[in-house]
Amino acid sequence: MRLTYTSDVWYKNAVVYCLDVETFKDGDGDGVGDFRGLTQQIDYLSRLGVTCLWLMPFFPTPNRDDGYDITDFYTVDPRLGTLGDFVEFMRTAHDRGMRVIADLVVNHTSDQHPWFVEARSSRDSPLRDWYVWSDTPEPDDPSQIVFPDKEDSVWEYDEGSGQYYLHSFYRHQPDLNVGNPEVRDEIARILGFWMELGLSGFRVDAVPFLIENVEPRLAEPHEFLADLRAFLTRRKGGSVLLGEVNVPYEDLLPYFGEGLGDQLTMCFDFIGMQNAWLAMARADATPLARALRERPKPPQDCQWAMFLRNHDELTLDKLTEEEQQEIFEAFGPREDMQIYGRGLRRRLPTMLGGDLRRIKMAYSLLFSLPGTPVIFYGEEIGMGENLDAEGRMAVRIPMQWSETGGFTQGEPVREVPEGSFAPDRVNVADQKRDPDSLLRWFQLLIERYRESPELAWGDCTVLDSGHRSVLAHRCDADGATVVVVHNLCDTAVDVSLALEGLAGCHLTDLLVDGTLRVSGDDTVEVPLGPHGSRWFRASAPDVPPEDASVKSR
Ligand code: NOJ
Repeated sequence: MRLTYTSDVWYKNAVVYCLDVETFKDGDGDGVGDFRGLTQQIDYLSRLGVTCLWLMPFFPTPNRDDGYDITDFYTVDPRLGTLGDFVEFMRTAHDRGMRVIADLVVNHTSDQHPWFVEARSSRDSPLRDWYVWSDTPEPDDPSQIVFPDKEDSVWEYDEGSGQYYLHSFYRHQPDLNVGNPEVRDEIARILGFWMELGLSGFRVDAVPFLIENVEPRLAEPHEFLADLRAFLTRRKGGSVLLGEVNVPYEDLLPYFGEGLGDQLTMCFDFIGMQNAWLAMARADATPLARALRERPKPPQDCQWAMFLRNHDELTLDKLTEEEQQEIFEAFGPREDMQIYGRGLRRRLPTMLGGDLRRIKMAYSLLFSLPGTPVIFYGEEIGMGENLDAEGRMAVRIPMQWSETGGFTQGEPVREVPEGSFAPDRVNVADQKRDPDSLLRWFQLLIERYRESPELAWGDCTVLDSGHRSVLAHRCDADGATVVVVHNLCDTAVDVSLALEGLAGCHLTDLLVDGTLRVSGDDTVEVPLGPHGSRWFRASAPDVPPEDASVKSR
């Protein structure tokens, strides 16, 4: 007997929605988002089609890195609510069939975390070895400095105890030492605590830094990830670790667990993302097609996580300097739009000049690329950025619910953008009433994506479209096929695709009305408008095309 397990690996075709409780919805009028506000918006998220929420850090923090600097891993930041509010939120999300994962930020703590305060108090502190110390640190490699606008070393001298401590990120974020078994156990306890409160897993922050920068060096750094994975699975099967691993494809497979058993369940496809932007900048699908062809296949039950924008800068660090310049010129020519010399601090719609056709095409691409789509709150309505905010905070603006903002009844702690992306131009309430809005497009994409499990589960083949500007791919699973075509340029094109094995089949358009027929010699002509996108399901010549449009897994 074959054991059916498809919804056990629910994450393979999930729709992941990343949000920061602080900026999503204020429920008590103090100007800061909170769990009560978020709970009120669960139905909005569920109707959008979100199946998994990713919560950015919501723990107590001095907030010098927007919550990625934590002082207590075991409770909720009082500005965002109480543990009781968190549990009510979890209960409501589960009631609507949504899972929740949270950021696991254990590469470092805040320097105000009681562990670090104790550790730095003396060289003999029992917690001294929870962090990484050195009398004579190695000279810095400038390429290893993550925030070059603020830091010029990854070592900081601690006057009190006369040694340097390691901080892979800001100097106020000392690295935890997972070389120490007590630290590894504590991390497992943190996971266990939040799993017990209902989480379905974690987005693991800064994974390569977490396992590499430790003392003594772990003989098998990946063994720690494998141990965490085993711990999670023992506690709750089907829970996920979604890793932030921005390394070249050839170095990435070990993070999924090649050779050592399961480690991370999903990894963000940073390389695919950067090449998607290069392709859009050039109106030439070649870089993206190449990345998809070169991308290794993750082990069974693992999955790529696809994204175009996230809460950080749009990093272009894996492209050449010339390629970075092309993207800067196309999507962020001004210096105040760029950051760290390698990225852009903009959201997608402003980068695409607010051109709705282009924006819709970009998201159609995101949802149809093989992998699990991850969106950042506000993408579904096309929110812009606020370049007056500091650094990466430009993209972390309050959610725009209505003409007047609608994020809070009080004085918002963060400014919204002005001009054509201000709340009176871009908001949820208006877009709900507009059948042609981006919000409605997202709902359609999500509905079709969920009904087309071939996209997430299938074997993906990039097709030769004969036009540089067109990316065409097909996904085959269990004898079913979905064919997807995107035009990255602003002129209409007709492409001729060779679809092996589909001679005579109907191709039912899943996004708009229309059916095409594959000829007897396996080819089909597909007309595409400027920035057009089309998704088709193939059905055998004797099956009525309308019966082919829905499928679940
Ligand atoms: C990665 C997070 O995505 C980023 O926002 C944060 O600043 C760094 N980790 C350091 O915590």
